[in-house]
Amino acid sequence: MIWFYCTCALLFILKTSSAVDTLLPNQTLKDGDTIVSANEFFELGFFSRYRNVRYLGIWFKKVDKGTVVWVANRDVLLAGFMGMLKFTDKGTLQLFSGNNTLIWSSQPSKTIANINPVAQLLDTGNLVIRDNVTGDFIWQSFDHPGNTWLPGMKIGVDLVTGIQRNLTSWKSRGDPSPGSYTVSMDINGFPQLYIANMKDKSRWHRRVGSANGVGFTGMRGQGQSGFYEFETVYKTREEIYINFTSLINSSFSRMMLNYQGNFRQFVLNSSKWEEYITPFQDECEIYGVCGAYGSCNINNSPVCTCLEGFEPKVPKEWSANDWSNGCKHEIPMNNETGYNFSKFSNLKLPDSRDTWFNSTMSLGECEKVCTGNVSCTAYANTDIRDGGSGCLMWFSELVDMRDAPQGDDSGQDIYIKMANPTFGDKKKTHLKVTFPVVFVVVLITLGLILYAWKKKKNSHDICEDLELPLFSLDKIAKATGNFSINNKLGQGGFGEVYKGVLEEGGEIAVKRLSKTSRQGLVEFQNEAMCIAKLQHRNLVKLLGYCAHGDEMMLIYEYMPNKSLDYLLFDENNSSLLDWPRRNHIINGIARGLLYLHQDSVLRIIHRDLKASNILLDSNMNAKISDFGLARMFKEYETEANTNKVVGTLGYISPEYAANGNFSAKSDVFSFGVLVLEIVSGKKNRGFTHQGHHDNLLGHAWRLYKEARPLELVDAALGDSWTASEVLQAIHVGLSCVQHHAYDRPNMSSVVHMLGGDGALPVPNQPGYYAELTKHEVESTSSMLLLLGSVNDFTITQLDAR
Ligand SMILES: *[C@@H]1O[C@H](CO)[C@@H](O)[C@H](O)[C@H]1NC(C)=O
Ligand SMILES: *[C@@H]1O[C@H](CO)[C@@H](O)[C@H](O)[C@H]1NC(C)=O
Ligand SMILES: *[C@@H]1O[C@H](CO)[C@@H](O)[C@H](O)[C@H]1NC(C)=O
Repeated sequence: MIWFYCTCALLFILKTSSAVDTLLPNQTLKDGDTIVSANEFFELGFFSRYRNVRYLGIWFKKVDKGTVVWVANRDVLLAGFMGMLKFTDKGTLQLFSGNNTLIWSSQPSKTIANINPVAQLLDTGNLVIRDNVTGDFIWQSFDHPGNTWLPGMKIGVDLVTGIQRNLTSWKSRGDPSPGSYTVSMDINGFPQLYIANMKDKSRWHRRVGSANGVGFTGMRGQGQSGFYEFETVYKTREEIYINFTSLINSSFSRMMLNYQGNFRQFVLNSSKWEEYITPFQDECEIYGVCGAYGSCNINNSPVCTCLEGFEPKVPKEWSANDWSNGCKHEIPMNNETGYNFSKFSNLKLPDSRDTWFNSTMSLGECEKVCTGNVSCTAYANTDIRDGGSGCLMWFSELVDMRDAPQGDDSGQDIYIKMANPTFGDKKKTHLKVTFPVVFVVVLITLGLILYAWKKKKNSHDICEDLELPLFSLDKIAKATGNFSINNKLGQGGFGEVYKGVLEEGGEIAVKRLSKTSRQGLVEFQNEAMCIAKLQHRNLVKLLGYCAHGDEMMLIYEYMPNKSLDYLLFDENNSSLLDWPRRNHIINGIARGLLYLHQDSVLRIIHRDLKASNILLDSNMNAKISDFGLARMFKEYETEANTNKVVGTLGYISPEYAANGNFSAKSDVFSFGVLVLEIVSGKKNRGFTHQGHHDNLLGHAWRLYKEARPLELVDAALGDSWTASEVLQAIHVGLSCVQHHAYDRPNMSSVVHMLGGDGALPVPNQPGYYAELTKHEVESTSSMLLLLGSVNDFTITQLDAR
């Protein structure tokens, strides 16, 4: 015992006394050795997070296992434990692999002759190489940010060297190699940060926004205490950057761009990281989702509204949830009558690319200048500390605003220029008052006519009502080679589907209503009504319809990669879907479904979600299709009952199959099945295993309970997957297929969980754990027996009675 204590004490002393923060010329750091900053916050050394690949990096030492804040060799992997960091007498850090290959080195920003170099890990976490005589930094890790932004580090642009200091995400939670997201600064107008997705460089993934002294405009959690400052430093012809500093010495914070493109701030609270600034992650974060002068509010349905005093530019599109054209002033701008400014509070300030600013001007001066400049559309403070200061002016339509949620002060005040009402406008209101009687009479008459006419409505009328473009039969026949069998893509819910090429160019898919199916007609109309009013990038797009005699057709955009089942369940094709693609598909379906359930004007339950109804475009974006069975919901309805159970076996939830109860949670069940199918590459229906008789859900559940969930992973994925992401997907899948509908998460929680946020609750046993035996089916209900015999097709006509 005594010996034991002695060794410990000795080791402890050795460890602390060996804590040095510098490397001298010709000194080396071997794998296993570290250097530690003087305040003992940071440590530099070798680490692994992913198989046996080693990285040279700096981690924050004060928390369990350390939080990696910087990595040297992000691009070049170091295998094995024989790596070595060498500090040369020329003042360069060089990283060698076990066989002495140089895999990384610090590139000095300036070369200086006759230096006396020292490499030092500073208390800020900055690894610097400096000249011991002059004290000048020759190189510093803060000039080469990874995914983490530490206090004192600059994110921005060096106007002299042209160097941009961006954050770049990791590839996955455990893999520091460069991922697909970056945080960069845009310096057109008032500097602001934005997140870009390298896979889609053409557009901004998200706009973080401009810094307002306390945080970023519209970022949740800012301004709640005075612990941090975010300052925009603008030195004309030198550099422009944002840096953040801690106002309290004892507290420590970091900002991090995670591998899923989310940008968040953490604060250390007794050796645990707590989230301090949380970005929103929802539909409203899509850049410019509500168009000009529209504001997004995630608690509204639909999420977009025009600001007060503004109206939709194209009302028809706006009411169909296509907000891209945005809003315009209700009273058009008029030079003669003059302007006034309306104050809007608690908004995320709009895109500042087309702005001008002066950080010493007051709000009053700002108003004067904006009034005198015709192109000025709005103004606001640049800094909100101490009651606000500075002047920021916009010169174009205002885009990408959102309402801060109630009780959250993340938004800012903005003053938007409006025209004074003219005499003409007053007359208009007068007219509205004098003629309401006539107006109402006309309305009633119209209503009656419409009602009588509606009673005899056919598909043609429905499509016409929906204002869908009409395609002539002649045109469609030409496009499809007269419905040639060679162009047949398959069998949809209510008829055959053909590929077509329009004469003027453009590929289409044509769904032709079968002339013999009465049921098909109802579905056809249902589909037209649902899909025509929905617009979302994860829903298939309806281009128009064709009606001629008894021919009825719906025309869609063509999906070159067919449907998910075609790739996923096919031995030769399944390897085309690597893990990043599958993960992207899962996320796409989740977002499409969230839109259907919650964010669309109609609120729709799909009721037939399955792999063959997920179509894939040329970029493998998932698009939900086939709304023949979908049901619209009123806002107050959450559940409904039907005596006609429709859906597809293997995907329908227990409560729905047994009792005909359907709700958004039955779609969630189907979604869960899909997720598990996507991870495993196996169909739930028809799944067999040598060891047991469970179906895929039962199998996944069994592996999960036995703590070997990764055995579910499809072999066709090779090593394209990362454990953390796959585990997350399996977890979400199992949560969604829980037996009781009330245990299942709703789609907005699902989207959160997939985004790496929100706790992952421990799931309960799934519904349909085991494949039903024929006996069980018979005793459950006669209806299920019918289901059992229909196999994989959509069941549309089954009466429960
Ligand atoms: C750096 O300078 C300090 C102070 O002048 C001196 O004490 C130290 O020995 C120098 N270190 C090196 C490596 O030259
Ligand atoms: C900003 O405004 C102040 C006060 O009006 C003025 O003195 C200063 O020159 C302005 N700065 C710039 C860069 O326009
Ligand atoms: C309005 O302000 C912009 C930006 O400062 C400037 O380029 C433009 O000339 C101004 N227009 C007028 C009429 O003052």
